[in-house]
Amino acid sequence: MAQIRIHNVRKDFGAFNAVKSSTFTVEDGEFFMLLGPSGCGKTTTLRMMAGLELPTSGEIYIGGEEVGMKRASERDIAFVFQMFALYPHMNVRRNISYPLVSQGMRKAEVAKRVAEVAKILRIENILDKPIGGLSGGDRQRVAVGRAIVRNPKAFFMDEPLGALDAEFREHMAQELRALHDRMGATTVYVTHDQLEAMQMGDKIVVMNHGVVEQFGKPQEIYDWPATKFVAKFIGSPPMNFLEFDGSVGTGGTHVSLAGHMVRVPMSREEHAGKLALGVRPEHIRFNDDSAYRGRVIAVEYLGTTQIVTIDTQHGEIKVRTPSHQVAHVEELIGLDFDSRSLTVFNSATGAALVSEANEGVLRRG
Ligand SMILES: Nc1ncnc2c1ncn2[C@@H]1O[C@H](COP(=O)(O)OP(=O)(O)O)[C@@H](O)[C@H]1O
Ligand SMILES: [Mg+2]
Repeated sequence: MAQIRIHNVRKDFGAFNAVKSSTFTVEDGEFFMLLGPSGCGKTTTLRMMAGLELPTSGEIYIGGEEVGMKRASERDIAFVFQMFALYPHMNVRRNISYPLVSQGMRKAEVAKRVAEVAKILRIENILDKPIGGLSGGDRQRVAVGRAIVRNPKAFFMDEPLGALDAEFREHMAQELRALHDRMGATTVYVTHDQLEAMQMGDKIVVMNHGVVEQFGKPQEIYDWPATKFVAKFIGSPPMNFLEFDGSVGTGGTHVSLAGHMVRVPMSREEHAGKLALGVRPEHIRFNDDSAYRGRVIAVEYLGTTQIVTIDTQHGEIKVRTPSHQVAHVEELIGLDFDSRSLTVFNSATGAALVSEANEGVLRRG
């Protein structure tokens, strides 16, 4: 198994720059997510790591070795394709053993490896069944089996669950993660689904328009987004932005929202101009004593919590509160922000200002 390092990797298709200079590291044994909206360059990045696409510039290292000149077949990695990409006319055993047989491995060794893989995947009982009669879950397991049987350095998966319905998708996501934990194999997984990335990943790279906006652990990215794009893309409802004109100085601990002083984590940089105060829906509380007020325009009941939409002088925001806190449409409500959890953004560039709370996790590409 192996660490994978991407250093200043760029990809142009003719005049179109699909991946901007990107740098990040997948540590040995990690379940690593490439996350971003459709067209942001996830597949292109994965294909460059795999050797299916040549970078325009930059270096890629697998297990410490520069692999730029190596073809996919020489990189010792395996792609797990979408679940139905199996040989339908072969049974399970032959599907799994195919990559070994085609590289000329001895029969006894093949049988041993297939038995090991079948045990890991818990599919010993279906080895002689035809693919055609299998459930979706078993087919996915066989597809994984065919990838892991070669014992490659790393696994690459490009939206492997994309075609599944929600319930089955969740089940297979859990199973892929559990399988990873049994094998400990470095895995790079592409998805556009932020929930899937948060639930499954050890680390996440968030991409947008070919740019690595941030990479880090799911909680780092959720708590301390490096950019407004990341803040909006992760979390549901997404982070609120209160847009204001103002300033924050080095060592500053407050911002003035149209005269309302709001305490924020101590700033490590200064900025004046268009700013945005970023606050997650669960970090806002109702407080009758607060002078910062807004009008309730909608209440969405979700069981234990509710989402209350409130019109403020800085725009519409969404607040997640316990359902027993009654809020009526048209009511004026006082609001408090959880000071420890606020992020101040430079609104012109979208970049988070560095503060004592987020320094250390603002890893940008
Ligand atoms: N072979 C290609 N030739 C030209 N443009 C491409 C090619 N492959 C991908 N692109 C473009 O590069 C961008 C990134 O594509 P892709 O990596 O597939 O995005 P994602 O997987 O995030 O949806 C898209 O705008 C896509 O149209
Ligand atoms: Mg893609």
